[in-house]
Parts: sequence; C-alpha cells; structure tokens
Amino acid sequence: MSTPTLDELENLARQAGIILRQSYEPLPGAINHLQIDYKGPIDLVTDVDRRSENFLLRQIRDSYPDHRVIAEESGALKGHPDHVWYIDPLDGTVNYAHGIPFFSVSIAYQEKGELALGVVYDPMRDECFTAEAGKGAWLNGKPICPSSTQDLAHCLLTTGFPYNIRTNPNNNLDHFARLSLLTQGVRRLGSAALDCCYVACGRLDGYWENEIAPYDVAAGGLIARQAGAVVTNLYGEADFLTPPMTILVAPPAIHAQLSDYFQTYLKRD
Ligand code: IPD
Ligand code: CA
Ligand code: CA
Repeated sequence: MSTPTLDELENLARQAGIILRQSYEPLPGAINHLQIDYKGPIDLVTDVDRRSENFLLRQIRDSYPDHRVIAEESGALKGHPDHVWYIDPLDGTVNYAHGIPFFSVSIAYQEKGELALGVVYDPMRDECFTAEAGKGAWLNGKPICPSSTQDLAHCLLTTGFPYNIRTNPNNNLDHFARLSLLTQGVRRLGSAALDCCYVACGRLDGYWENEIAPYDVAAGGLIARQAGAVVTNLYGEADFLTPPMTILVAPPAIHAQLSDYFQTYLKRD
C-alpha cells in the first residue's frame, strides 16, 4: 500500500489553510458571514470547518482510498488500520468565529500504530510546523527545539478546557487555578495543535489538557516529541492517542515536575 510523504501533508495543510484564510473575517461583529451550528451549548462548527474537512477528505481519499481517516466533523472513515490519518480541518474554531487570528490545520499520518508524519499550519502567520518520526521537527523548514527552562516557577504554560466545562466535574479548572500560582502564568490560547507546537519551538514551557481528541493532538504531539519535548498522557504513559485522552507536553525537566504535580492531584476515574 502506498504511503504519503511529509511534503504531501504540508501541501494539503497549506491548501486547507488558504480555505480558512480566504473566509476569515477580523470584524465578525460587523459582517456576520459565517454559517454557525452548535454541536453543544458552547461547541460550535462553521461552514468553513466543513469546507476545509471536505477538501482534505477528497484529496486523501483520491490518493489513498484504502487508508483509514479520523476527522473531527466526519468521524472515522473505514480503511486499513495500519494506515491512519488524523485530521482537524480547523483547530481553534471558537477563535476563528470570533475573528481572533489564532487557529490551525492539523494533519497526522500513522503507520502500523506509530505516528510517522505531522503537520500543523497557522495560515495567519504562514507558520508551518512539520515533523517526521526519527528525523526531526521544523518550523518553515528550520529545526526547532523546546525551551531550556529548568524550574516550574519560571514556566509559561498553556492549557484548554472541554466543551462540556459546565457539567463535567473533570473540567480542568482546579489544575488551571493551582498551576497559575505555581508558574509564571497559564495561557488559554484556543488551539491544542498550536499549543503543542509552541512548546515544541520554545515559545511556551508546557501544555496539558485533560480531555482531548486524537485529531487535536496527533500532529502536534509528534512535532513536540521530534523537537525534543516529552509527550505523554497525564499519567506519564507514552500513548496519548488512546483513552484516557489526556496530554502533557514539556521539555524533560519541566515534564518531570509537572508529572509530579499530576501524580499528586489527578483523580483517575
Ligand atoms: C479545541 C481547541 C482547544 C482545546 C479543545 C479543542 P476545536 O478544538 O483545540 O484549544 O482546548 O479541547 O476541542 O474545537 O477548535 O477544533
Ligand atoms: Ca480541535
Ligand atoms: Ca476543529
């Protein structure tokens, strides 16, 4: 069965990024141009999410009809389990709908159970984060590495919250509050894929989230790992793509300190 190259993934992400950028409206209050549907009380999807995803699915299906694809809006499309794509056609939908220029396209390819290729593209900054297993991680073709911060107190972290935050007791607010007091600060930027990449290139010192989907973090997780960060679930296990779907990304010294924190405070259901 044929397999894709990193260049192919980058091309797909850049083309989907053009779709996002062309329909992006920085003043959405003035022009209500997006078709918005709600998947839950605060979980929305736009026509642009769907257009970007349909484009990606068409391209992947044409070239790799036997591969399995797991895409945010369409769910799992049947295919060979040795060849799996994880697609988030617009990671950061809430930012996008509000005219906040922080969102991305995320594409990963997994071969025989191992993440092989990952691309996260930020179309507003024309920043393309890429990685290939065993070869490295890059931002627009230049190698990247995580920060060298050694102690938690000097770390700038990022996190996210589940869309069922109002009803979910595991809503991450307790960790957000505690870690805000133990670090330089905690950001909530709104794109899990870019959160991973910002740790990968040293802009941020760590990222965690305690309810996440594989298409949110498959590409970003590989990019961070290939850049030299440690990527696990919150229990320290290397597999962050199967339940419990949680993630912890940080340079080695900080990962160890955050792991200690989560060992103390995490409640396993
Ligand atoms: C969301 C974003 C957000 C994260 C959520 C994700 P979406 O993805 O990545 O940062 O906190 O958990 O669901 O809905 O914008 O694709
Ligand atoms: Ca997402
Ligand atoms: Ca999405």
